[in-house]
This record gives sequence, structure tokens and C-alpha cells, in this order.
Amino acid sequence: MKDQYRALVAEENENGEFKYMVKMLPFSALAENEVLIKVKYSSLNYKDALSASGNRGITRHYPHTPGIDACGEVVTSAVAGFRPGDKVLACGYDLGMNTFGGFGEYIRVPASWVMPLPEKLSSLESMMLGTAGFTAGLALAMMERNGQHPDNGPVLVTGAGGGLGSLAIAILSRAGYTVIAASGKHHEKAYFTELGASEIIPREQVNDLSGKMLLRTRWAGAIDTVGGNYLSTAARACMRHGNIAVCGNASSHELPLTVFPFILNGVNLLGIDSATCPMPLRKQIWEKLSGEWKPESLEKIAEVVSLDALPENISKILKGEIRGRKVVKISG
Ligand SMILES: NC(=O)c1ccc[n+]([C@@H]2O[C@H](COP(=O)([O-])OP(=O)(O)OC[C@H]3O[C@@H](n4cnc5c(N)ncnc54)[C@H](OP(=O)(O)O)[C@@H]3O)[C@@H](O)[C@H]2O)c1
Repeated sequence: MKDQYRALVAEENENGEFKYMVKMLPFSALAENEVLIKVKYSSLNYKDALSASGNRGITRHYPHTPGIDACGEVVTSAVAGFRPGDKVLACGYDLGMNTFGGFGEYIRVPASWVMPLPEKLSSLESMMLGTAGFTAGLALAMMERNGQHPDNGPVLVTGAGGGLGSLAIAILSRAGYTVIAASGKHHEKAYFTELGASEIIPREQVNDLSGKMLLRTRWAGAIDTVGGNYLSTAARACMRHGNIAVCGNASSHELPLTVFPFILNGVNLLGIDSATCPMPLRKQIWEKLSGEWKPESLEKIAEVVSLDALPENISKILKGEIRGRKVVKISG
């Protein structure tokens, strides 16, 4: 094994500005943990871009290698559950936040964060899904646990053109739901239709500024990735006993809303945190993602880019300019 490896490194300069570039790092940069994994693919998530650009709510210490997703092969393991050569997946927990993440050729992580690659998924497919697909799957599982069913009516997806949004459309559609996609990229109708959306609406339609506490009902549930007034509108226009899976804050972390959707319409807000999802439920969701919920349109959603192309893609995702997902080829 070499004594150095390639990784994207985010650094702060003396003026407090952050820069990210691909560099060589010594293996001593990796924290002492149980499982050393050679990373084959990672993927770019919004959270990675925030980490790379110095968001201390996500990453406290720099220099740092982001990347909340990684798949690859075990090199060494201090626990009996994993052996060299095992194909594995690590997504979420502290990976890429304050533990060096998947944007490097190697990660060293606690065994409790690692799971075998699902049998019916290739390494590439697992990262086409990544945290975005896993979160969409977790959202749907929580909604269905709470009574969501395709017969109840359509499900809204906000931030539909993003990674999580695109996969939410594809997974909902695969599970038999009618999907309404709300997007700033609504003119890209062919893309959303191929993913399985039945209706594509400009995102302004989910940004109601009338001040009304309840709106004409339009959907039976929602997977929201943008927060703020979009989430508020999703809740105010949700049918009785519908479920809104609260996944993201791409527009805002605030929530201008009254209690009326909840106490008059029985609408449920379900908090979704993929990073801390317990391993048994995590494995169940990945099983579904590799089988009955596996999107047929993964190649249409995700494009493979090199580690060297990552810096320009980080800048793009921060500006909302990426459609779908970028899988990062790290090695092999
Ligand atoms: N809860 C969890 O476990 C979890 C897991 C993964 C991600 N997330 C969160 O989910 C969100 C989406 O993540 P992602 O990786 O899919 O990011 P992404 O690929 O950048 O997608 C975000 C999408 O949100 C929309 N958007 C961006 N800025 C907006 C604005 N100012 N107003 C309205 N819409 C806006 C855009 O969609 P359109 O162009 O289609 O409008 C954009 O493509 C992020 O907040 C992320 O942190 C949470």
C-alpha cells in the first residue's frame, strides 16, 4: 500500500476564507478507527458542499475531507464482522462531517457505520442512490408507517430537480404513487416525466404568500427538501391525515406556519434524519432500494464525475445549478 492517498481537502486560509482542492495526504490524517476502506465511489450531496465551504454547523475543524457517502472494499478490519475484500457501504453517521469522508481514496471508520453492499446493487448504483436515495426511501418508509398509501392521492416533491428530490420522484413512482414535482427547473419536463412525475409545477406554486393559514388541498403528502415557506405551503395545502416528510432546508431553515394544518386537518410533520438512522432500519431501507423501490431511471438521474472535477461541481451545487446527482469516481 502507498504511504499517501489522494483526497479533496477543504482548508481555511489566514483571512478566514475556505478553499478546496485535490491533494496527497498521509495515512496518519485518518482517525484511528476499526475499518479501513478503499473507496471506489462517493457522491456529492448539498451537505458536502456546505462542509467544503466552511459551514461550522457541519464541520468544526479544518483541514477536512468531506464526503458523507462512500462505497468500496475493506482493506483491514479490527472486528470479526468485516474481512479484507468485503464490498461495503458507509453513509451518514459522522462520515464527512468531523470524520474524513468519501472524497478521499481511503476512509477509516467505526465498524458500526459500515454495512455490506446490498446484493442486488452494484457499487456504482449504491452511490447513484447514496444518502439522497436513502433519505427519500426513509421518508417514504416513515410516511407509509403513518398510513400513506397511493390511493390517498398524489404526493408532492419539492426541490424536485435536486439529488434528493429527483430520487424521491423515482422511488415514489416505483412504489405506485402519483407524483407532483415542484421545481425551479420545471421547464425540463422530459426529465421529470422520465423519472415518473405526473405533474410538474413551477416552485413558486408551492411558495404561497397569501398569508392564509389553510389552503385548498392539493396533495395527500409531501417529501420536502427545501424548508421555509415551501414546507409551510406543503403543510397548508395537504389533505386530511396526510404526511409531510421534512428532509431539507435548501431554501430556509425557518418555518412560518400555524398549528391549524395539524389540529384541523390532522396533517403530520415527520422529521427525517438519515445520518442517525439505526442500522437495522437502515438495512431494511437499502433492501427495498435494491429491490421493489429501485428506480429504473438511475442513469438519467446520476452522472459520474472524477475527483478532479469535484471542486467545480461543489461550486455548482451551492448555486442550485446541478440537476440530479453527481457520483464521484474515487479509485479503481
Ligand atoms: N434529512 C436528511 O437526512 C437529509 C439527507 C440528504 C439531504 N438533506 C437535505 O436536503 C436538501 C437537498 O439536498 P440535495 O443533496 O438533494 O441538494 P441539491 O441536489 O442541491 O438539491 C436542492 C434543490 O433544492 C432546490 N433549491 C435550492 N435552492 C432553493 C431556494 N433558494 N428556493 C427554493 N428551492 C431551492 C433546487 O431544486 P429545483 O431547482 O428543482 O427547484 C435544488 O436543486 C438539503 O437541504 C440537504 O441538506 C437532508
